[in-house]
Amino acid sequence: MTVRLDARVDEDVVLAARMLRDGKLVAVPTETVYGLGADASNDGAVARIFTVKGRPRAHPLILHVSDIDAARRVASHWTNLADILAHSFWPGALSILVDKAPNASDVVTGSRPTVVVRVPGHPATRRIIELMHADGSVGLAAPSANKFGAVSPTTADHVLFDLKELIDAVLDGGPCAVGVESTIVDCTGVEAVVLRDGGVPYEDIANELALHGLHIRRSSDMVGTTDSARAIAPGMLMSHYAPRARVEVFESSETLHARRRDLDDARITYAELAHPVNLFEYSRGLYASMRECDSRGVEVILAVLPEPTGLGIAIRDRLSKAAAQR
Ligand code: TXA
Ligand code: MG
Repeated sequence: MTVRLDARVDEDVVLAARMLRDGKLVAVPTETVYGLGADASNDGAVARIFTVKGRPRAHPLILHVSDIDAARRVASHWTNLADILAHSFWPGALSILVDKAPNASDVVTGSRPTVVVRVPGHPATRRIIELMHADGSVGLAAPSANKFGAVSPTTADHVLFDLKELIDAVLDGGPCAVGVESTIVDCTGVEAVVLRDGGVPYEDIANELALHGLHIRRSSDMVGTTDSARAIAPGMLMSHYAPRARVEVFESSETLHARRRDLDDARITYAELAHPVNLFEYSRGLYASMRECDSRGVEVILAVLPEPTGLGIAIRDRLSKAAAQR
């Protein structure tokens, strides 16, 4: 049975932490998307995440911690770069890749020599992680709480739609504020390398690093990699984040409207993705809008791509991946 807990109720938050320490799987809210949490110090519990999601074992999980000190404990080498970005953007939608310490389990890291750490912003989830640390855990291992390859959940209802009866509980913390996954940055070297665009815009990271005379670039391996063993961050496959309907993307509403006429003529059913002018609203509602279009049972979802700036970069990335051939 999947229990629904309320993030505003302290007993529920404490119960969620206890369930996690008991080896249970609990979906938790973060400012990006809901995570499917397991105690990162319990290999058996973490292994269940892969079974429940239908996710390949080699796709490593983000290790969520309560603060920079806790992040340092799972890193063998906490670089200056990691420290600068952690201080500037945590708690937040930024995940940092560093070399791992032995207490970051191979089940979490997919047997890689690195670990990705993040301090999430949702207060209830941070409290859960603090309670877990106080009880001896290294943190909360959590991928997005959806079936493998599907759209990430941004409400507790989305989580239940995908994973009801497969997980032990979901902590309802309301709709996610950001709505797209975290930005992942490799901080093992002297230069920051973005592995996945996300909730913290590239420009913001670049501006912060420039203050310290440091640089950022995008991983050349990022787009189009279907070979997950080779990928720097496996799981960023082209056909990720896809709803059931076929997705078609357009640079302008004019081109989208032209396509609508074709679809009308061909009697193909479609829905238009909500595309607010404001990028914050766009990213916040992106996945919910895809799910809603799917629930209407249409064959095609039409979407206008936002400008490639700020959060628009992550939105474009997710939409393009959803539109990629499956
Ligand atoms: O916002 C987010 O990042 C959400 C919330 C729940 O924190 N999590 C999330 O997790 O999106 P997931 O598992 O769906 O995506 C995490 C990505 C995966 O593509 C994985 O390959 C990469 O992070 N990753 C994790 N650890 C890694 C490592 N040690 N080396 C390379 N890539 C890693
Ligand atoms: Mg995911």
